[in-house]
Amino acid sequence: MANSLFRKKTVNQILSDSSNEASLNKVLGVRDLVSLGIAAIVGAGIFSTIGLASYNGGPAVSLLFVATAIACVFTALSYAQFASTVPVSGSAYTYAYVAFGELIAWIIGWALILEYAVSNMVVAISWSQYFVSMMEGFGVHIPRWLTIDYSTALEAFQKVNSAAGEHISSFEKVLAQAYQDAPTIGSLHVIFNLPAGLITVLVTALCYIGIKESRIASNIMVMLKLAVIAFVIVGGAFYIKPENWSPFAPNGVKGILSGVAAVFFAFIGFDSISTTAEECKNPQRDLPKAMIYCLLICTVLYVLITLVLTGMVNYKELNVSDPLAFVFSQNGLNYMAGVISVSSVIAITSALLVFQIGQPRIWMTMSRDGLLWKKFSQIHPKYHTPSFATIVAGIVVAVPAFFFKMDFFVDLTSVGTFFAFILVCGGVLYLDQTGMSQYSKFKVPYVNGKYLVGIGLIAAVICICKFGQPILAEWKALPFDQLIEHKLLTMIFWITWLVLSIVAFIKNFSLLPIIGILINLYLMTELGVSNWKIFIIWLIIGLFVYFLYGKKHSRLNTVTDQK
Ligand code: ALA
Repeated sequence: MANSLFRKKTVNQILSDSSNEASLNKVLGVRDLVSLGIAAIVGAGIFSTIGLASYNGGPAVSLLFVATAIACVFTALSYAQFASTVPVSGSAYTYAYVAFGELIAWIIGWALILEYAVSNMVVAISWSQYFVSMMEGFGVHIPRWLTIDYSTALEAFQKVNSAAGEHISSFEKVLAQAYQDAPTIGSLHVIFNLPAGLITVLVTALCYIGIKESRIASNIMVMLKLAVIAFVIVGGAFYIKPENWSPFAPNGVKGILSGVAAVFFAFIGFDSISTTAEECKNPQRDLPKAMIYCLLICTVLYVLITLVLTGMVNYKELNVSDPLAFVFSQNGLNYMAGVISVSSVIAITSALLVFQIGQPRIWMTMSRDGLLWKKFSQIHPKYHTPSFATIVAGIVVAVPAFFFKMDFFVDLTSVGTFFAFILVCGGVLYLDQTGMSQYSKFKVPYVNGKYLVGIGLIAAVICICKFGQPILAEWKALPFDQLIEHKLLTMIFWITWLVLSIVAFIKNFSLLPIIGILINLYLMTELGVSNWKIFIIWLIIGLFVYFLYGKKHSRLNTVTDQK
């Protein structure tokens, strides 16, 4: 039983599977890869969720962008090693099949649905907000109750009508009004996000008939995205009121860290270029470089944008889904807001497209391995696209985009992606231990972690004892049951660090992947228990699907049977 759960594909098996498929053109160089990376990375995060993060953490969220980028760099190196070991168009899913075996590969594939499909719900909702701003700019007013979700409208309505005396932003007033204006069926207010659902349907139709994102088209889109962002940074710099930067961290470290999901979301996608390994001229040399360049460029842009946004308006106004256009209209620059909205709509569409193309292809690979129904790998005879998987991906994204709230999906995407990143970093340790690194043409630079992981742990504990008195006092004040309830995730983090210190000592683990694991895990703990619970439920559903279907139908069954 355990054998079959952890049965692995060998590197040779994967390479020979892939050579049985039609071979792909090896045309991509560093510049193309950076362009593809930016096409995937720059989307709803910088255009929308940055608003929520800045609202929670104030201008200091710019520092969180730097910290998150560092976590991503360690993960990027691990991805690069895998991509150079197993240079096929897989993803973390394929890598896990080699390193950890089928069950974990399935779990990663299942978690990647969160990274690709669920993140696209956020992108669709973000697209909708910019679309609404754009239409307003053209003088077309779409009723608000047709452009938001029910719970956001209801929350705003309750906040505006409560006597709590909280700060109410101008956007919240608009939302509350939408709740009042919405038609009703009985006592239910009819409120849904029509543009978000429709754009998903439209993009799905394009993916179905096989839109080929040519290099040129992708490069133009990327130029446009970068141009909008540069425009906001340079144009906005003239309207910064430095007093808005003070206080720099109005809600302290807690406020900053509550933006983790939103900030991390903005970086998701750099890993997607690893799926082009088969199409790279020199994946071993170019993939690591391209990932690092992408992260560098995005980090600089994100930090600057955060400073501009929080400098142009008070951070308390920024809980909006179209912050880049919003800050300009707040400064009376409606014309500039209009230009930003139009270009953002085009730019965000490309992000939507990248992930809407990616999700069906992951399902297709899993289906080819027998872990998902055969239909998922069905290729359209005329359009040569995974037609059934594309339609399912469209439905899976469009329906929630019509009805649900963005924040929830941001959290869910982030928790799933952190999890996948941790496993990829862990996978590199496995490659090292099993000698499989010999197949890796790029290796995460090896620094012996024998003593350093443990020394880091001791240093962290000393720092907390010396400087973290308020934290310790908070822990001491909690009774045991509440300690478990509120601090369980933090305990998991420290226990993991301890275990890694011991194992690293015994096995001379490489330091950098461990740092990757620890930073990702720490940021993941900041997402809160409720998100972990939802994620665990998601995994349990995935396990049911695996045991009811995938385990029996896995192609490795047939391979084993034939032996
Ligand atoms: N990083 C991607 C975005 O921000 C997911 O849309």
